[in-house]
Amino acid sequence: MRHLLTASMPRDEAIGLLDLAEDMHQIQDRELKKLPALRGRTVVNLFFEDSTRTRSSFEIAGKWLSADVINVSGKGSSVSKGESLRDTGLTIAAMGVDGVVVRSGASGAPALLADWIGRPVVNAGDGTHEHPTQALLDAFALRRRIHGGAARGKALDGVRVAIVGDIAHSRVARSNALLLPALGAEVTLVGPPPLLPPAAADGSRLGVRAEPSLDRVIDERPDALMLLRVQLERQAGKVAPSAAEYITGWSLTDERLARLGDAHLLHPGPMNRGLELSSRAADSDRSAILEQVTAGVSVRMAVLYSLLASDHPSAELGGAR
Ligand code: CP
Repeated sequence: MRHLLTASMPRDEAIGLLDLAEDMHQIQDRELKKLPALRGRTVVNLFFEDSTRTRSSFEIAGKWLSADVINVSGKGSSVSKGESLRDTGLTIAAMGVDGVVVRSGASGAPALLADWIGRPVVNAGDGTHEHPTQALLDAFALRRRIHGGAARGKALDGVRVAIVGDIAHSRVARSNALLLPALGAEVTLVGPPPLLPPAAADGSRLGVRAEPSLDRVIDERPDALMLLRVQLERQAGKVAPSAAEYITGWSLTDERLARLGDAHLLHPGPMNRGLELSSRAADSDRSAILEQVTAGVSVRMAVLYSLLASDHPSAELGGAR
């Protein structure tokens, strides 16, 4: 059984997935956006947390590959009556579905589901743990920016990426800190000290380094800056610093943007304009944010195809068990 539960994967496998996503990306230029690869397959999107980008792009990806796609959310399903994750998963599997995409507020839920249901499972974001397809689409968009377009076979060797924000609670940061170094990138985790995980101080263990000062990192002229969302729904009033302190120390303001040079700007969305970054930064030609959204469809097509197409030659994906 093959799953995608983590962004931790060998370099060759990551490049192979990004290359397959490049093949899928060509569909964006077609008038008729439909491939027959998953005809007769059924995919369930099981979302226990809100989502715009991930849920829509998995649905589009499945439909463009001709799969039948069913959306199930926590609200409106029997989960709201108290049904457990295990019983929900077994119920969906019993209907004969071929794969499940799951987002959950509980770290580790996709791995449990993978053990229980006997179907390929894709982690679409679990708690503060991982968001592997987000990291893959970030790498895809950044690879295109760095290499000036489709870049089959290429990695991100020596590309200096700073990830800025609440590192400790970010599944996006964790998945990127696993995937980007595997592709050769040099990753710096930047954020308020209470929001940097203790392990980040020991860069040798993670293969990344930690730096509390965004201004010092900007002076180093990184190749890319990834601004993380301040997760207002998870930390309102519970986590220091305050919004005003955050803006002073870690927001990409217009003044910092002017000092940043030509760095590419990434943000997983949804953005809090004026908090993580200014509107000028978000809308500048250095921003790859909408390219990330487009990449999300291509990367998720590649993942679904890899896991569910009967004719796909690849044996394994990251997190395969
Ligand atoms: N980046 C991301 O996961 O966005 P959504 O919550 O809208 O899916």
